[in-house]
Amino acid sequence: MIGRRSIALAAALALVSCAEEVPQVDTSTYGAGENWDNPGGDWAGSHFSRLEGLTKDNVAELGLAWEYDLGTARVQEATPVVIDGVMYTSGNLGRVYALNAVTGAELWTFTPEMDMQVARAACCDFANRGIAVSQGKVMVAALDGQLYALDAQTGAVQWQVDTIVDHTRGYTSTGAPEVAGNLVVIGNAGAEMDTRGYVTAYHVSDGSKAWRFFTIPHDPAEGPQENPELEAALDTWSDETRWDIGGGGTVWDAISYDPQFDQVIIGTGNGGPYAQAIRSPGGGDNLYLNSLVALDRETGAMKWHFQETPQDNWDLTATQPMTLAQMDVDGTSRPVVLHTPKNGFFFVIDRETGRAIAANPIVRTNWASSWNLETQRPNMTPETSDYTNGPQIVFPASPGARNWYPAAYDPTRNSYFAHVIDMGNMLWLPGPVDNVERQPGFMNAGAAIIFSPDLAAAAASLPPPIRAAMEAHPQWQSVLDQPFTSELRAIDPMTGATKWAVPGLGWQDRQGVLATQSGIVFHGNVAGRLFARDADTGEELWHVDTGSSILAAPMTYAVDGVQYVAVQTGWGGGGWGFVPPYAAAYSKGNANRLLVFRLGGGAVPIPADLPALEPAPEPPAQFTDATPAMIAMGGALFTENCGLCHSNQPRAPLPDLRRMNAGVHAGFNQIVLEGLLVPRGMPRWNDRLNAEQVKAIHAFLIDSQTTLRRRELELQRRGLPLDTQSLTILSNF
Ligand code: HEC
Repeated sequence: MIGRRSIALAAALALVSCAEEVPQVDTSTYGAGENWDNPGGDWAGSHFSRLEGLTKDNVAELGLAWEYDLGTARVQEATPVVIDGVMYTSGNLGRVYALNAVTGAELWTFTPEMDMQVARAACCDFANRGIAVSQGKVMVAALDGQLYALDAQTGAVQWQVDTIVDHTRGYTSTGAPEVAGNLVVIGNAGAEMDTRGYVTAYHVSDGSKAWRFFTIPHDPAEGPQENPELEAALDTWSDETRWDIGGGGTVWDAISYDPQFDQVIIGTGNGGPYAQAIRSPGGGDNLYLNSLVALDRETGAMKWHFQETPQDNWDLTATQPMTLAQMDVDGTSRPVVLHTPKNGFFFVIDRETGRAIAANPIVRTNWASSWNLETQRPNMTPETSDYTNGPQIVFPASPGARNWYPAAYDPTRNSYFAHVIDMGNMLWLPGPVDNVERQPGFMNAGAAIIFSPDLAAAAASLPPPIRAAMEAHPQWQSVLDQPFTSELRAIDPMTGATKWAVPGLGWQDRQGVLATQSGIVFHGNVAGRLFARDADTGEELWHVDTGSSILAAPMTYAVDGVQYVAVQTGWGGGGWGFVPPYAAAYSKGNANRLLVFRLGGGAVPIPADLPALEPAPEPPAQFTDATPAMIAMGGALFTENCGLCHSNQPRAPLPDLRRMNAGVHAGFNQIVLEGLLVPRGMPRWNDRLNAEQVKAIHAFLIDSQTTLRRRELELQRRGLPLDTQSLTILSNF
């Protein structure tokens, strides 16, 4: 009896879910109109607007319409959404703001509550790249991986799901959820920690799970894989694979719903650990790392995959934003996805077949020399890039030729506008590859990496054998001749050729882009300038100084016939502890603002300069039992555990621990071991460090503070500035 009833109930439920309406997407127009309905602007994620209220002739009359204080001082990477006069956007950690798009009046805000211990798993600051809106709900993924659906009218939580499969591992969420018909799809970050990537689709209506797709297999010893695609992928992982560490492949940014094929295209992340000699000793392509994977919207089954970086050794993720388009290929119009991942190539991939139509390098690449369209594989060059047997200089560097900052595609000009960084870094194995211990919930990159705009100078300070290997490397001359370029380009997708380029301020100056049909390209820079350029030539049409660093992409919308341009300000993201001296965040602090412009608007208020640096305060006396060995051990522990957040550089967003005052020194153990400041994002360490190790770190910091204070008092005596900065980032996890 009961059995029968539950069968009937199941059938009824099945009917209900079958009957669930799947909203259809109108793909007859390309580019956003008055509304900008998702962070990418339109169904194609084009960051392109059809609005023509702003023209090359009048854009110089732009002024501030309104501004809104986002109330924080960390990273801002989201592109706002505007629907019928209401702006919705996310700030760091997954805060959400709903504002009147004409006046900036606050309608509601949402701050996710979370155990801030999760900060320890966030490699790249508290970034959040945006919200999704559907069925009267605003959806956001908070840093701790909770997916929230908020009532678009009130901000009240309608449903909430925990998207993380294992909280003992270093998962976080930073990307924008993507609406796919009746579903919303979200992934996560943490491939350098100890995670295994996946995306999950939930019903927008009630948050119930529709399907989940893992991007890489699990340990075959633990039973069958979740789906047949993963059984097939197993062959591309070696028998010695360190499944226990995780494997990576996290989908931390781009997820694109392709309504024309009713498929969800995901970009998967790097391998974890980075070093393949640790991750999958003996090699293999390691599917589906660094790939675009198309999944059926309804079932989550794989339709095709295209691996952009096989055998990843270099953190060359494929999670960067995707642009859907229709393009002329040999006389026929093909549905394509345009993709510029970290690995330095510009891919034009057929959305129906998953095959690359074009794949041209846009920067120096020395992990692969070119792409073979016949075999659909790169021509790989391990001799110049495999660091298993010694240090290598690798192009592109792991921050990528491109990264999360969105590109814009203008189909009328066939131009892809994007910020591009051409730069290499040095990589080597920091120790033996056997028996590497998993660091639970923490960094497991397994590679030593040096990022620097001046690799030659960085090499000079390295141990002689590493320096010698660098100087003997075939790319050494290239490094000396052209250390880096960082520029905004207009690119022809099929050839990868640059139509025009304008230089950025430095290798840390990078930003998202907006393009309009009327021929304007908008972008900011970290010095706090917002530019309008001629889309045909790159020539500057207008700029305004805002005094606040801009990384995020501007967007545009119209209400009652008036066109607006909006952008969020805030420095941060990968490498956030190293604020370049040319950044507004360096001289004026890291104000998180939402700035909105219109023709005839007013002046932008500019934040005041920060006060000059003071010499480091007097540290307490060194521990009486401190030895040089203890201080050295403390230094190594500091680099390994603390350096990710505490860069100890001038004007860094987080405290310089060489400038601690007496009170902080007195509370050091409470802060570090007992978690006194966890709610403020300073993790607790008693699971990783014992009292003796923390004392060694403290001894190292007292020693550093003593040296720094002596030096700064001397500089002050001579009337010299105090803020000298290291330009080299060593990450050795
Ligand atoms: C995930 C990022 C992160 C890591 C890793 C981290 N910290 Fe922090 N730490 C913070 C934040 C955020 C603050 C500032 C909290 C606040 O606003 O009061 C902070 C503050 C501190 C302070 C107080 C400084 C002051 O002047 O107020 C101390 C001491 C400190 N951290 C020690 C450490 C040590 C030692 C380690 C390594 C074992 C470490 N931290 C690793 C994020 C981090």
